[in-house]
Amino acid sequence: FRRLGLRGMKQRLLVVANRLPVSANRRGEDQWSLEISAGGLVSALLGVKDVDAKWIGWAGVNVPDEVGQRALTRALAEKRCIPVFLDEEIVHQYYNGYCNNILWPLFHYLGLPQEDRLATTRNFESQFNAYKRANQMFADVVYQHYKEGDVIWCHDYHLMFLPKCLKDHDINMKVGWFLHTPFPSSEIYRTLPSRSELLRSVLCADLVGFHTYDYARHFVSACTRILGLEGTPEGVEDQGRLTRVAAFPIGIDSERFKRALELPAVKRHITELTQRFDGRKVMLGVDRLDMIKGIPQKILAFEKFLEENHEWNDKVVLLQIAVPTRTDVPEYQKLTSQVHEIVGRINGRFGTLTAVPIHHLDRSLDFHALCALYAVTDVALVTSLRDGMNLVSYEYVACQGSKKGVLILSEFAGAAQSLGAGAILVNPWNITEVADSIKHALTMSSDEREKRHRHNYAHVTTHTAQDWAETFVCELNETVAEAQLRTRQ
Ligand code: G6P
Repeated sequence: FRRLGLRGMKQRLLVVANRLPVSANRRGEDQWSLEISAGGLVSALLGVKDVDAKWIGWAGVNVPDEVGQRALTRALAEKRCIPVFLDEEIVHQYYNGYCNNILWPLFHYLGLPQEDRLATTRNFESQFNAYKRANQMFADVVYQHYKEGDVIWCHDYHLMFLPKCLKDHDINMKVGWFLHTPFPSSEIYRTLPSRSELLRSVLCADLVGFHTYDYARHFVSACTRILGLEGTPEGVEDQGRLTRVAAFPIGIDSERFKRALELPAVKRHITELTQRFDGRKVMLGVDRLDMIKGIPQKILAFEKFLEENHEWNDKVVLLQIAVPTRTDVPEYQKLTSQVHEIVGRINGRFGTLTAVPIHHLDRSLDFHALCALYAVTDVALVTSLRDGMNLVSYEYVACQGSKKGVLILSEFAGAAQSLGAGAILVNPWNITEVADSIKHALTMSSDEREKRHRHNYAHVTTHTAQDWAETFVCELNETVAEAQLRTRQ
């Protein structure tokens, strides 16, 4: 039953996530262009095929007028997407405020905002109310499109209040909730003023999923310590009702990367890049420009490496792609200036008239350019301070079939649990350790590279996004069926 999978399944799946897999740009009164959005959640779900799924979410744009809303709804329908329209005030309070200034840093162990505690406390109430209002708006769109028997799969920290809204509307809806970030230790989580209300809402779901066993365990501990409920090997029990809690590690569609590498345009791009960096080793970083990604720490480690290994000056280059994100949140604006300042200083210090050690780009690359970069680089540096999973590490491995480059990976990324045996694991806060790992990676024997790569490649190609989604949805169906059986007995 479990392995029957989603393929060919009649059942419909409503995927609900804050962000749609496409962002919309207005080109005229009723004209829209659509572009793929950035982020791990989008990359993973794009890898899920052959499913009768519709995606409900925000298109990342304010559309105050009805003409625009109707036109965008039509354009998105072609991509099987359904928009939730959020006005500027809600976006400010819910998305910039509660989601990205409170939950996101807290879930990544950066704590609650500290600069102006009083202001944060005062804003907290109104931001939490906006969060609940926004979640209700997502729920309203789900109700409009829901048919009996549909599976509703809610995603991420933006929508922790949604399971409650849905079950209050119809207790028979099949609801799953999945978190793409870490769920922190209950000692961190319990500082959140709305801790109990959010936990109780998530527990309304039938199945709650995380990337790793540790995150699932932290969640169960939070429920037992904060709500006084009972944790069981299956999940959390409240007055005889079980919410199943489990780990479902996400993957990528590795075939999509392999296919891209066969395209003539990508091959040409690979040749050009190889010629451009001839005689130098190339290291790669691809991150959203987010404080959890540890970009300043990574660059400082590279500086230390250059300082201590003069023979490598001019022989190695770091390409850092930093995709702008959440640019209205002040913390992210500060980070951009900080990174620019460090890159400028290091390039000034170690650059020559003909070459600089760091190429830093503040933008995303299209899929084919990214695949070419993944394929030609010798080392990938994924040094997140915390990361739910981190799919860049998977994408890099998928594209390294011939080169067998080395992955330096933070032990605080969920991916460390699956790619740990093949990667060089580092504590990203320890700049000396990362600098030493850079040297190890650049001088590693081909035998060791081959061995490490083989391990990771086997994992990435056999644990796909498709498997992840199938397992979650099948488990959800099974959990609901078992609960119905228990009620009848
Ligand atoms: C992470 C989150 C996703 C989010 C993505 C991009 O991967 O888990 O839910 O969509 O970042 O962030 P953004 O704020 O631009 O949607």
